[in-house]
Parts: sequence; structure tokens; C-alpha cells
Amino acid sequence: MAIETSALTKCYEKNDILAVDRLELSVEAGTIYALLGPNGAGKTTTLSMLTTLVPPTSGSARVAGADIVREPHVVRSRIGVTFQEIVLDKDLKGREVLDYHGQLYGMPRRKRHDRIDTLLDLVELNDAADRLVKTYSGGMKRRLELARGLMTDPQVLFLDEPTQGLDPQNRASVWSYLRQLQADRGMTIMLTTHYMEEAEALADRVGIIDQGRLVVEGAPTELTAALGADVIHITGQGDAEKLAGSLRALPFVQSVETVSGMIQVGVEAGSRSLPQVVEAAAGQNFAIEDISVAQPSLGDVFLKHTGYALRDV
Ligand SMILES: Nc1ncnc2c1ncn2[C@@H]1O[C@H](COP(=O)(O)OP(=O)(O)OP(=O)(O)O)[C@@H](O)[C@H]1O
Ligand SMILES: [Mg+2]
Repeated sequence: MAIETSALTKCYEKNDILAVDRLELSVEAGTIYALLGPNGAGKTTTLSMLTTLVPPTSGSARVAGADIVREPHVVRSRIGVTFQEIVLDKDLKGREVLDYHGQLYGMPRRKRHDRIDTLLDLVELNDAADRLVKTYSGGMKRRLELARGLMTDPQVLFLDEPTQGLDPQNRASVWSYLRQLQADRGMTIMLTTHYMEEAEALADRVGIIDQGRLVVEGAPTELTAALGADVIHITGQGDAEKLAGSLRALPFVQSVETVSGMIQVGVEAGSRSLPQVVEAAAGQNFAIEDISVAQPSLGDVFLKHTGYALRDV
């Protein structure tokens, strides 16, 4: 296992917040793992502990073969990190940012320069490498951060919200670099995100985290398949709980959740089930305002396990 945690816990003493609560997870080498959760779920705190920046209150973890508390410098020498907040020195040129980082890790000049050339190619910043970082766009800064995280050729790469604030095009290109790193170098990547599409598109396994707890974990397709082949969403006027109850009794219905008046129904075959669902609503005097059929997403999985929508928070 490239990452393994055991009851990993962080309580911030000054405000008595239990940010991460007895986290148990393992990440196999060469895989991409996404921690998906809303604001304040404990994603950054988890990453901060795994990257040895914040000490755990209790529990333990091993990263790239070393213990985060007893051997923090070994862990640091084997990992790369990019942070949620962009922390680049804007008065440096892109190339200098990478070079200083390599120097900090004691990389010899020749090796640094080779590595910088390779990485600038990878993140497509060749043309901008000799410009000041303060002239970069948001997407360029993110790509430079990614290149910096890769400078020391880490075994495990940690990325905190790697595409936050990026437009869809830049987001897609970050995803493709990450897939390339996994395919070409067998790198283990742990990223945090609150975009379910990101977890769906990239991750071999997803851990859904909410209020410091890992609520469910698995391959994205496995998690969504557990809801049923399709999901019907219904909103309208009437007693949603009562309608949910009668829907649960239908043989083709696999799961029913309600949240702030919206009903989510997991079914075997969406379009074929629709008439019966509409009929059930009529039978309960529930006036449907909107009804749709879709394949289940990780957002639906989140709703099922937490009782609220990932989008709402
Ligand atoms: N340094 C700190 N001191 C005290 N409390 C903190 C500190 N850092 C985070 N917290 C609290 O711990 C909880 C988890 O925060 P964390 O930053 O890990 O969440 P997150 O999942 O990364 O959220 P986001 O999606 O907003 O980045 C929150 O309640 C937060 O207010
Ligand atoms: Mg965070």
C-alpha cells in the first residue's frame, strides 16, 4: 500500500473541532484516489497530516513506506505536494520556481535542468517559463504548481483541489496530465476535490468524506451501481416523505432518499419505471413539478450516505 491510515484523527484544540475522525483508508500503489467532500469535510486536514505538515492528534499513517510521525523526513523525501491555495512567489519566473524547489531538495544542477525541461513540456509551459509568475493566468499557475510538485520525482503525489477555479478546458488538461503520470510512471496520486465529476473522471477509488468521517468508499462505478441502474429525481408539491414510502414498496425500486423536498429514486430501468412512479405520485396527491431520469452520479451517492446534496453546501 502506498498510503495506509489507521484511526487517523485530528482535533484542532484551539476551537475544539474534530476535523478528521478515525480515518481508515488504504491506497494501492499506482492508483489514483480521490477524497470527495464538501467545504469543511476535513480533506485539507487529512492531506496535511499525510504530508507531515500537521501532526495527528491520534492514530497513525504510513506513506510511501514510512511513518508520518516517526519518519517525517523520509515521507517528505518520497512525496510531492500541491496546495489548495496557490503559494507561488510571484516575483520569480516559472523556471526559477522549479529550480529553487529542486535546490531546496538538494538536486544537482544537471538533474534539475533536465527535469525542468521534461516538466515544462508536460504542463505545456515552455513558452512562459521565462516570464514572471505574476503575469500567469490562474490555469498556468496551477500547472506550474503541479510541475513543482513533480520536481523531485515523487512516489506519491498529493494534490489539494488541483483544479479549483479552473475553467473546463484547463481542468480537462490537468486531468490528462494526471492520467499520463499514472500510466507512464505508475505514480500513486491522492487528490481532494469537491467536484464529483473530477472524482468520477479520474479516480480508481473514491472516498466520500463528510464532517471528518469517511462515509463510503469504492470504485466510482461500484458506488453508483449500488444505487440502481438509473436515478429518477422528483420535485413538487405534496408530502415527499409519504410518496417516498409508497415508492419504496414498488418492486423495481432499489433506493429512495428525500432531501429538502427532492426525492431521489434508484430504479432498474428509468424510462420504463417512470409511468409507475408518476402514478404513485398521483395516488399520493403529490403534484410533480419536475421529474428527470439519469444515470446515478457520485452526487447521488453522496446524498444517499449523508442525507444532503453535495451541491447545496
Ligand atoms: N488550522 C485550523 N485550526 C482550527 N480549525 C481548523 C484549522 N484548519 C481547518 N480547521 C477546521 O477543520 C475542519 C476541516 O477543515 P478542512 O480545511 O480540512 O476541510 P476541507 O474539506 O479541506 O474544506 P474545503 O473544501 O473548504 O477546502 C473545518 O471545520 C475547519 O474549520
Ligand atoms: Mg480544503
